[in-house]
Amino acid sequence: MEKLVIKGGRPLKGKVTISGAKNATVAIIPAALLANGVCTLENLPMIKDVVVLREIIEQMGARVSFSENGTMKIDASRLEQPYIDNGLVKELRASYYLLGALLARFGRVTMAYPGGCDIGVRPIDQHIKGFKALGAEVEIEHGMISVKADKLVGNEIFLDVVSVGATINIMIAATMAEGTTIIENAAKEPHVVDVASFLNSIGAEVKGAGTDVIKIKGKSSFYGSTYMVIPDQIEAGTYMIAAASIPGGDVTINNVIPKHLDSITAKLIEMGAEVQVNGESIRVMSNDRLKSVDVKTLPYPGFPTDLQQPMTSTLTVANGISMVTESIWEGRFKHVDELKRMGANIKVEGRVAVIEGTDVLTGARVSATDLRAGAALVIAGLLAQGETEVVNLFHIDRGYENIEGKLRDLGADIVRKQL
Ligand code: EPU
Repeated sequence: MEKLVIKGGRPLKGKVTISGAKNATVAIIPAALLANGVCTLENLPMIKDVVVLREIIEQMGARVSFSENGTMKIDASRLEQPYIDNGLVKELRASYYLLGALLARFGRVTMAYPGGCDIGVRPIDQHIKGFKALGAEVEIEHGMISVKADKLVGNEIFLDVVSVGATINIMIAATMAEGTTIIENAAKEPHVVDVASFLNSIGAEVKGAGTDVIKIKGKSSFYGSTYMVIPDQIEAGTYMIAAASIPGGDVTINNVIPKHLDSITAKLIEMGAEVQVNGESIRVMSNDRLKSVDVKTLPYPGFPTDLQQPMTSTLTVANGISMVTESIWEGRFKHVDELKRMGANIKVEGRVAVIEGTDVLTGARVSATDLRAGAALVIAGLLAQGETEVVNLFHIDRGYENIEGKLRDLGADIVRKQL
């Protein structure tokens, strides 16, 4: 077991390079199982979720190599039975994309029910609704989910809620359905677009990704391709928020798509930070104590739920009262109790947190309850006076590549130690 030890109060200065997008990668790896040839995926993040997915697909017979520079080669031509009965599936939510991919490829799949961060009820009814609309039968028994179809046939599917996972999963399954599938009320997140672009690179015909209507014309086979995954919007946003948090910060964040970060840029400017966009870089500067703001999480292009927790940490020391409304996950305020141990003034009522900014947080031993809660506590540690210890790092390692190394390069006093 490891912990991060942070001595806070130092403004962040310098340059940081953003890794490939976790939430695109974890869908593109399963989608690569559709190709008959080798898929070469570039710019993948070196994170635990990717390592676990690799292990799952290797156990199924895929041949995989993964090099230090983030390039993964996947040859799924000898994939075996679409049955995954092991604990690895429970380690990440995104294992649900194996349902769509294996249903498309084999017409059937049985696997353990997916796990992931504990941030509230995480239903997959919209995924199931989509698979059924394509002609599949779905059974959930003894913790296993089975999806099978004699033949997948395209259909029109209107999602009841805007779901990233359901949009991507149905899109993947529909690439091999007979005829055309139309997904309405589709999610528009950058990673939805990236998965569509990858599918098109292996020969699929997916149109409209990035809007709320996606059309997929089914095909019977796919070939390998070389594909570069987009930069991680949430990792970039995390560093933007961290940079703005401590007065004197001046950080250039490289390898970003600034458009994906518009909602964060706007919020930081509203709070008094300076943000400059320059090609594929964003520079964030903070001269004074930030001002309080209200934040409401929404599907893209709104403020992302995955940055709500990091932003909450920053608002604990902003000048004034802020209101944070979490409209996607009802259980995403677990970091608040930890922040209170560091002196934060926060009241949570249902999906709303009211934060009264304090002059200073003080270091404490805190525990990451989920991935983005972990990032939030690291930011709190950077802000706080004295020493903060963050434990339960496995959550953070699921989604952030080398977080302590990147922060150290920005001048933070942060080290990873054995517990
Ligand atoms: N929902 C349903 N039914 C479904 C699916 C979702 O009611 O079948 C609801 C959820 O309960 C939630 C809302 O719809 O209230 C949105 O859920 P969505 O399906 O969009 O979430 P997800 O696909 O399970 C992905 C990311 C999350 C991110 C959300 C929202 C991956 C692997 N995970 O989850 O990322 O919070 O979209 O943007 O892509 C993270 O990276 O820390 C993380 C949790």
